[in-house]
Amino acid sequence: VTAAPETRTPVKPWIARMPLGMPPPTPPEAVAQLHLNECPVPPSPKVVAAVAEAAARGNRYPDARAARLSRALADRAGVPADRVVVGNGSDEILRLLAAVTLGPGDSAVMPTPTFPTYRVSTTALGAEAIAVPLTPDGANDVPAMLAAVRSDTRALFVCQPNNPSGTPVPPAMLERLVAETPEHVLLVVDEAYYEFNVADGAPEVLGLLARRRAPWAVARTFSKAYGMAGLRVGYAIVGETALAEALLKVKQAFNVSSMAQAAALAALEDEAYATSVVEACRRERERLVEGLRRMQYRPLPSAANFVSFDYGRPCGPLIAELASKGVMIRDWRDPAWETWVRITIGSAAETDAVLAALEAAR
Ligand SMILES: Cc1ncc(COP(=O)(O)O)c(C=O)c1O
Repeated sequence: VTAAPETRTPVKPWIARMPLGMPPPTPPEAVAQLHLNECPVPPSPKVVAAVAEAAARGNRYPDARAARLSRALADRAGVPADRVVVGNGSDEILRLLAAVTLGPGDSAVMPTPTFPTYRVSTTALGAEAIAVPLTPDGANDVPAMLAAVRSDTRALFVCQPNNPSGTPVPPAMLERLVAETPEHVLLVVDEAYYEFNVADGAPEVLGLLARRRAPWAVARTFSKAYGMAGLRVGYAIVGETALAEALLKVKQAFNVSSMAQAAALAALEDEAYATSVVEACRRERERLVEGLRRMQYRPLPSAANFVSFDYGRPCGPLIAELASKGVMIRDWRDPAWETWVRITIGSAAETDAVLAALEAAR
């Protein structure tokens, strides 16, 4: 970690202290892009056509409320449309949820290691991030997270399944979480990998949350199963209209471009595409897991489009060696877990490439 540059700007001290963590770029010569949990295939042709059509009307501002898309998502989820808010990726949704609940003097409970946005948005708002280590098999540790809640806690972030481990919270623990997260805390369930988790037989968190009498929100995305990471559409389904309204108050007016809105609507009309992505991903995940096991690694049980395992020694040199061959994979970006590697599920050719590169690096 390098020292923060001196500044005369009145940057908030808690922001000056934050590390600068940017997602790594993808080199143009990469043969396997398995470091960003992207979808290996382009979006549905119907999505691409919808984007082109919307681009032709790009002189007009997009619908600030994303009303058509919100309604389509609400209908699918079986909730009223005024409880759905669309964002510039689910990353924005998570930041908005933090923005409306957290400030100096507040705290938020979250797992560690996990998706960095919970910590980044909490700290950027001057609130305290209470990070609770994962269970040994990589799941969010629900009893420990519940025990970490304080009277100043305003939000509890659950990553279901967790990135970078891939492990989902077991159903009984989810029930506990929904029942026992105190009423003064917004329970945020980040379901970025929802479509993969459900295909693996996970219960619908939304069904459980519908019975919760205290605040809750679910965050989902078109980035993964719909292959739209570069188009930037995510959404929140929330427990009460007042929370949706709070998110609308603080979001940028035109946060989701007209191309992104049209893309998401087209994607919802081509569910067969997402289903085929999820099925292909599950097949390749199985192949990757088997290949890793043949090399005596023990991958964690993943319900997402990536797999993690303990390499047994610091994985920096391995990642650099694979990168030199154009095979991009990722570490867990946490010094406490420097031996852990995460590999996104890609195409069959990418599975072959990463297995061959790992074998050669042994
Ligand atoms: C757990 C989790 N949440 C949220 C996101 C954000 O996704 P997006 O902003 O593309 O919707 C990601 C992306 O990798 C993620 O892994």
